[in-house]
Amino acid sequence: MKQRPNLLTGIKTTGTPHLGNLAGAIRPAIEASFDPDVRAYYFLADYHALINVWDPEAIARSTLEIAATWLAFGLDPEHAVLYRQSDIPEILELTWMLSCLTAKGLMNRAHAYKAAVAANLEAGLDDDPDRGITMGLYNYPVLMAADILMFKGELVPVGRDQLQHLEMTRDIAARFNHHFGEHLVLPEALISDESAVIMGLDGRKMSKSYDNTIPLFCDSKKLRKLIMRIKTDSTPPEEPKDPDTSTIFSLYRAFASAEETAAMAGRYRQGIGWGEAKQLLFEHLDAMLAEPRERYAELTAHPEKIEKILREGAEKARAEAGPYLSELRQAVGFKPLG
Ligand code: TRP
Repeated sequence: MKQRPNLLTGIKTTGTPHLGNLAGAIRPAIEASFDPDVRAYYFLADYHALINVWDPEAIARSTLEIAATWLAFGLDPEHAVLYRQSDIPEILELTWMLSCLTAKGLMNRAHAYKAAVAANLEAGLDDDPDRGITMGLYNYPVLMAADILMFKGELVPVGRDQLQHLEMTRDIAARFNHHFGEHLVLPEALISDESAVIMGLDGRKMSKSYDNTIPLFCDSKKLRKLIMRIKTDSTPPEEPKDPDTSTIFSLYRAFASAEETAAMAGRYRQGIGWGEAKQLLFEHLDAMLAEPRERYAELTAHPEKIEKILREGAEKARAEAGPYLSELRQAVGFKPLG
């Protein structure tokens, strides 16, 4: 009988988790971890974070915040292997093996690398297009391939921006298998539902790179203040509003039941003042966040509890990665001589 497939995803440890992360990644991943038909692997991608963040305190803080957030929203380490990437040195050994098989030309085509080169050319650096680009950034897709292949991740939930990385992972794995035998499992991307993309304070997609996020764990006062800052137009209160073009509504819908959403859409169509719409959104979110907020406070007050959970996760993960890496080492010819 075939084993249930492994579902795996990584979360880069940069920044503080926000409402967009909750709707787009955290909540669906926690739900999926309770699905008896998959085995879930979730990890904090701190090797990846180091590419952009050279501030030790920031990396450590983000690692703590992200782990505490996932746990506060109900991730159960009995239902998902939760680990920190940098606790699994096997990933780096696999990264090297894969690097030796990866065409440099393939990496030249990676979106993030190409964007960095384009920015340099734009800035007039024609004779130094790689200025400021590290080998970390360049090798990013190989590291990501190793993350996935190390744990036989068959299903990989990611945002659309990560599709190319999944294609590269398949390419690299296929080349390995072609040369060394069928050892690696080719992954498939699970692209999250676009309607789960939620808008930020300025009406663009909520993203830490736009600095338009609503953090998950601020106090009620700050939450209300941020919501009141959401950009709106000057339509008068009594005029009907189209819920589908409203940032406030999109945030409400992302976190409300179908009935609540339908009722709220009705209010918009009748005409609702933006101030009132914001107040209703605030009350809804504040109530939803109340319990996780308490658990989060409790967890972050005891980082040693989180550390213990991550270490136990790493132990489980390494118990699988170790023997599998031995198999791969054998496959490439690193084996006892007699
Ligand atoms: N690159 C992913 C992102 O930026 C994070 C990530 C790292 C990841 N390794 C992974 C996602 C492996 C899925 C599988 O969102």
